[in-house]
Amino acid sequence: MWWSGPIGDVGAARELLDEAERTRYDGLRSPHDRARFVTGRVLARRALAAELRTDRAAITLITRCPICGGPHGKPILAGGRTAIDFSISHAGERVIVATSHAGAIGVDVERIGPIGDLATPEAGVLADDERSVLRALPAARREAAFMRYWTRKEAVLKATGDGLLTPMAALRVTAPGAEPAVAGWPAGQPAREVRMLDLDAGRGYRACLAVLTALPLELTERSLLQ
Ligand SMILES: CC(C)(COP(=O)(O)OP(=O)(O)OC[C@H]1O[C@@H](n2cnc3c(N)ncnc32)[C@H](O)[C@@H]1OP(=O)(O)O)[C@@H](O)C(=O)NCCC(=O)NCCS
Repeated sequence: MWWSGPIGDVGAARELLDEAERTRYDGLRSPHDRARFVTGRVLARRALAAELRTDRAAITLITRCPICGGPHGKPILAGGRTAIDFSISHAGERVIVATSHAGAIGVDVERIGPIGDLATPEAGVLADDERSVLRALPAARREAAFMRYWTRKEAVLKATGDGLLTPMAALRVTAPGAEPAVAGWPAGQPAREVRMLDLDAGRGYRACLAVLTALPLELTERSLLQ
């Protein structure tokens, strides 16, 4: 796991992106989104280069949507290296890159904040039993609990590569106070071995990591946060 805050000098960091990434960067309006995006991509190269004991320049990331062919979706490492997988997530002042030698990995960090109507059935995030758990909590604890559910689900969906194409409510996870695990895979999808860890992203954040493996996880964290 590599943790960082958004890079301050985004102009210089932009030069480290490839052409497709620069196009995406230039299309982002918000300076905060730009900073988080560029940091994720630069940090991913740094993490992968360190893991593979190679030069950052030797790391090429490919991002191609399997559905529409557009430059979004789960980025992969060019060159057919299957021994390592990685995942990027960014929110607020947090950027995370997670790499795995054990199987496909997904990571998600979210800032705790107002959830609006995201906990309604119509929003399609929580299953019925998960909504009951949330409703039973004191109001002051609901936002953090909701983000625990959200990050657990999204970490798994990023590990599988489905992203939000799978309705989140269809993937059930354990309650916020329990150890993180998948409680039910979406109908029609086979159950898979997955190991999950809630991460400490600091006050005001929730984060989770999921790896598609039966092996126990051994986590190494490197923080570039100031
Ligand atoms: C990407 C997604 C999984 C999470 O987004 P989010 O919570 O806003 O953002 P996060 O910071 O946690 O994650 C973003 C990162 O996830 C990665 N990612 C994107 N799609 C992914 C997927 N399907 N699986 C795994 N990782 C993915 C990317 O590295 C992205 O970072 P980048 O902007 O540097 O490329 C979600 O927005 C999504 O699935 N969107 C795609 C919807 C879609 O596929 N629509 C159809 C297109 S044809």
